[in-house]
Amino acid sequence: MAHEMIATEVQGAVALIRLNRPQALNALCDQLMRELGEQLLAYDADPAIGAIVLTGNEKAFAAGADIKEMQGRTYPDVLEDDFIAKWETITRIRKPVIAAVAGFALGGGCELAMMCDIILAADTAKFGQPEINLGVIPGAGGTQRLTRQVGKSKAMEMILSARFMDAAEAERANLVSRVVPAADLLDEAMKLAARIAALSPVAVAIAKLSVNRSYEVTLAEGVRFERSVFMPLFGTADQREGMAAFAEKRKPRFARR
Ligand code: HXC
Repeated sequence: MAHEMIATEVQGAVALIRLNRPQALNALCDQLMRELGEQLLAYDADPAIGAIVLTGNEKAFAAGADIKEMQGRTYPDVLEDDFIAKWETITRIRKPVIAAVAGFALGGGCELAMMCDIILAADTAKFGQPEINLGVIPGAGGTQRLTRQVGKSKAMEMILSARFMDAAEAERANLVSRVVPAADLLDEAMKLAARIAALSPVAVAIAKLSVNRSYEVTLAEGVRFERSVFMPLFGTADQREGMAAFAEKRKPRFARR
């Protein structure tokens, strides 16, 4: 698949996707989002891949949707082409997606990071939802995901005033799983992805599904869902291997299909 706006590489069972439009701080134009969606779906369908890392560059993960592309659009235009629909592809990926964020993650860039399963942040990361400066609001889930993640007061402040959050604040607010020195970001993300990719592909996919369910349903429903997907794991070779390896005091070997 020839892509212009993303760069990809595969290391073992980990796929790395780098947003690659540095001259525009990785502004997420239509073509970039199409390429990203296609590539994510391809890796999701590839049994050799166990986890995906999504990153940008030192200066920006992504500075948002492409403002210049949106500038001339009217309400009928955006209603008709529904360009945001493409943004949701990432939420349909069954394999873990880790966002490795350095520099700006603003607007749609922050929303894209929040659609990933884990956000690792460099100490240079800056998160924000500055759409209000443009006379609009977040449109790819920001008002919902940021609020669930950091709570109402902080989300309101960021969305209403366009204030950015630095990496330390993002960690305190539980927006990111942890902060690492910028120089170590990609290594840490790739190590984490490799660790996940070495585990049972079925258990990993089901664990992701179950955690995500917690956003959609009540606690009682969620716990019932968890049980209903926990029990069938006892029908897998990975459960037999994982538990046998523990009993035999050896490392488990989980096969990728
Ligand atoms: C298009 C962008 C862009 C964007 C930066 N650029 N962000 N182009 N869309 N979102 C371009 C600039 O125009 C400039 O191009 C080049 O990238 C470098 O940016 P500078 O502004 O010169 O860099 P700097 O002075 O370092 O400032 C960095 C910045 C600023 C603070 C991140 O670029 C900025 O405020 N960007 C916009 C952030 C934003 O409002 N994001 C939300 C977008 S709306 P030239 O050609 O001049 O060199 C959104 C809605 C999502 O995301 C809804 C869901 C679809």
